[in-house]
Amino acid sequence: MRPIASRIDPRSAAFATNREAYEALRATLRERQQWAIDGGKGRARSIERHLARGKIMVRDRIDAVIDDGTPFLELSTLAATGQYGDEAPGAGIVTGIGLVHGAPYMFIANDATVKGGSLLPASIKKHVRAQEIAEQNGLGTIYLVDSGGAFLPLQDEIFPDKDHFGGSFYRQARMSAMGLPQLSVVLGGCTAGGAYVPALSDEVIMVEGIGRIYLGGPPIVKAALGEIVDPDDLGGAVLHTRTSGVSDYLAKNEREAYGKLREICLTTNQRGIEERTGWLDWTPPERPAYDASEIDGIISADDRIPFDATEIIARLVDGSKFSAFKPEWGESIVCGFVRIWGHLVGVIANQGIIFSESALKATHFIELCEQRRVPLLFLQNTSGYMVGRDSEAGGIAKNGAKMVAAVANATVPKYTVLIGGSYGAGNYGMCGRGFNPRFLFAWPNSRIATMSAETAQTVLVDIRLAGMKGAETTEEEVAELRAEVAEQYERHSDPYYATSRLWDDGLVDPVDTRDALGLCLALAARQDAPAPGPGLVYRM
Ligand code: COA
Repeated sequence: MRPIASRIDPRSAAFATNREAYEALRATLRERQQWAIDGGKGRARSIERHLARGKIMVRDRIDAVIDDGTPFLELSTLAATGQYGDEAPGAGIVTGIGLVHGAPYMFIANDATVKGGSLLPASIKKHVRAQEIAEQNGLGTIYLVDSGGAFLPLQDEIFPDKDHFGGSFYRQARMSAMGLPQLSVVLGGCTAGGAYVPALSDEVIMVEGIGRIYLGGPPIVKAALGEIVDPDDLGGAVLHTRTSGVSDYLAKNEREAYGKLREICLTTNQRGIEERTGWLDWTPPERPAYDASEIDGIISADDRIPFDATEIIARLVDGSKFSAFKPEWGESIVCGFVRIWGHLVGVIANQGIIFSESALKATHFIELCEQRRVPLLFLQNTSGYMVGRDSEAGGIAKNGAKMVAAVANATVPKYTVLIGGSYGAGNYGMCGRGFNPRFLFAWPNSRIATMSAETAQTVLVDIRLAGMKGAETTEEEVAELRAEVAEQYERHSDPYYATSRLWDDGLVDPVDTRDALGLCLALAARQDAPAPGPGLVYRM
């Protein structure tokens, strides 16, 4: 691998302009992340009540469980941003990966300060996505349960469908059978369907005075049977640990429960993060030769001005070293081998539009990585596949399809980061959400849509005018239509709109991206090697 020689001048005026613009994006990201932690309508009162009951805030709970001084990779922090009248920061649930005695676990923890920890549609999506990541990466799951169960006003959007509440129990039962520990600590309500989270767990700890499990709470029992019953007598920690056996351990308080949970984790026989099986090539890591903070000055403040993917790669990979594949052919895609935190990875990054040659080059490279069992990292920044008469005559549809088919069938671990535009089928060929990358992160400057707002204005306005079949339209009306389309496309391609709906696993600051990817690769390294995929038929 050769060191990349950067051509960026950090003292240039363009660099300073870009950096200033990126600082503003970063400030917005931080502000919204803080909002997820303690913001939202009426949240201050809920937090006050939560603390007054002697309960610990959700992120402090996770901190109390994970190994001291180790990081927590939080996922989809900004889920539900701008939805549900801004009353559901983070969708009322915190998910992410942390270490317990050196072994990685997925945490799924309800935030009772958001709608009593009840599950809105975005919360269920976040819960199920965390389980999907856990299964794919071979992680045990720790459920810190404090939830009002299904958010009743929207029960039709969370209850009956695949990957709704039922799907989460299906996944939980199956992961347990796969030998991935399912452990619950009950710190609040587990009502109705919610009762199955602990009930389906391998081991359950309940905290006295706050933990409650029942299929029907006191109001339902009163309505159905006329019985008036105290919540603790109906489903408290003492009852369930000493009488029903629904819970296995009784803890006097939260701290004691987390100590017990860590003790249980000593018996789960899970591989640690540092244990390598040998299938994933690894050498001692090196820091990049160029600082990741310079990415701020490289990404153009004006998204019509392209930036060089190689410069980004130089700031993410070990020693800024890169072994480029076919560097002189299909130059609108950069492919090559790198190391991230010591792990060998094949990286595919866009340099703008994808032409036939670039699609074929990427396909060839994906096949190489698949054959050599090397994970793939996609850095998306493309306006999509090339259109136009020459491109069609050159077979862009079949060449693009080869790339899409190769991505879909690659069985090596795949990771995607949206570092810029993610438009059209470029999103698919570059391993978008539909192609099951193990993790998909987005930078706060990214954009995702079928096409850019600028292109959409022309296309949609032309379609609408054609539909009017020659009816008179004034210039003002056309301008109004264009502005309307542009506004809608801008809003829908905003990264906060995307992350709110869990089209990604979270917005990541460019400076944190290398560490996040390093952890993701380390998770794959501790698993057994994935089996190679089947042969493909390519349309020649
Ligand atoms: N659906 C919709 N909203 C719910 C909810 C649910 N299942 N559970 C709680 N909430 C809301 C409350 O309406 C309240 O909203 P507000 O802040 O806008 O006023 C907020 O969450 C806090 O609830 P509250 O009851 O005031 O808090 P609490 O800490 O005293 O009690 C629970 C928390 C979870 C024990 C209690 O709310 C509860 O029992 N909820 C219903 C449980 C249930 O029957 N679920 C059935 C699921 S199928």
